[in-house]
Amino acid sequence: MSSKETLLTIKDLSWKYPNNVDTLFDHFNFTLQQWAFHVLMGKSGTGKTTLVKLITGEIQAPRDTIHYRAEDIAKFTELDMENYRKKIWIVFQDYRLFEEDSVKENIAYPLKIFGLGETIIQTKVDNVITELNLRNLVEKSVETLSSGEKQKICLARAIVHNPEFIIADEPTGNLDREHTQQVADILIKANKLGNTIFLITHDIHLVHYLKEKHAINIDILD
Ligand SMILES: Nc1ncnc2c1ncn2[C@@H]1O[C@H](COP(=O)(O)OP(=O)(O)OP(=O)(O)O)[C@@H](O)[C@H]1O
Ligand SMILES: [Mg+2]
Repeated sequence: MSSKETLLTIKDLSWKYPNNVDTLFDHFNFTLQQWAFHVLMGKSGTGKTTLVKLITGEIQAPRDTIHYRAEDIAKFTELDMENYRKKIWIVFQDYRLFEEDSVKENIAYPLKIFGLGETIIQTKVDNVITELNLRNLVEKSVETLSSGEKQKICLARAIVHNPEFIIADEPTGNLDREHTQQVADILIKANKLGNTIFLITHDIHLVHYLKEKHAINIDILD
C-alpha cells in the first residue's frame, strides 16, 4: 500500500467576516490526512460551516493559510479551483436531494456531472447500494423517505463518486439517536472502504458513538 498523503493543511488561519466584529478563527491549525476519519467539533456559531466555505473557496481564504496538498488555494486560478472542487464532495445537513428524481438517479448524480457512461454509472450505483445495504430504499420515491434514509442516500451519492475527501457538515443535525447511529455506521463503512472523511459536528453523542466503534481523530473548534 502506498504511504498516506496530507490532503489539506490549514496553517495559522486568523479570520473574521468583514461585517462582523467577532473573530472566528484565531491562529487555527488543522491537517487532514488521506484515509483519515477526522472529526471537527464545535458549538453552534463557532465557524464550522464558514470553515467549509473557506476550504471550498466559496469564501476567499487568506494567502498561505489553506493548502490542498502542497498548493496554496488562495493562489488558484479559476481553472485550478474548478479542478480542486471536483476532488471534494460535501454532505449537508439539509440533504440537497432532487426530490422528483429516483433514489438511483440521486446517487448517480455526481457520476453524471463528471460525464461517465451509462453502463459504468449503473454498475457503480448498484455496487454502492449493495455495500451500504440500501436495496430496500431504491424503489421508494425520495420525497417519501425519512430524514435518516435521505441522509443515507446523500452518503451513497458521496461515496459513489469516490472523491479525495468527503466533508460532512452536521449530517445528523436533523436526526434522532437511532438514525444518527445508522448514519455514523455508514460513515465508518465509507472510511473502511477507503474514503477520507472530514466530519463536522456539534453532536457529542455522535462523537462518543464513533469513538467506541472506530479510530477517529478529533479537533475542537472554540
Ligand atoms: N455572511 C456572514 N456575514 C457575517 N457573519 C456571518 C456570516 N455567516 C455567518 N456569520 C456568523 O459567523 C458565525 C459562524 O457561523 P457558522 O455558520 O460558520 O457557524 P457554525 O459553527 O456552522 O454553526 P452551526 O453549528 O449552527 O451550523 C456566526 O456567528 C454567524 O452569525
Ligand atoms: Mg454550520
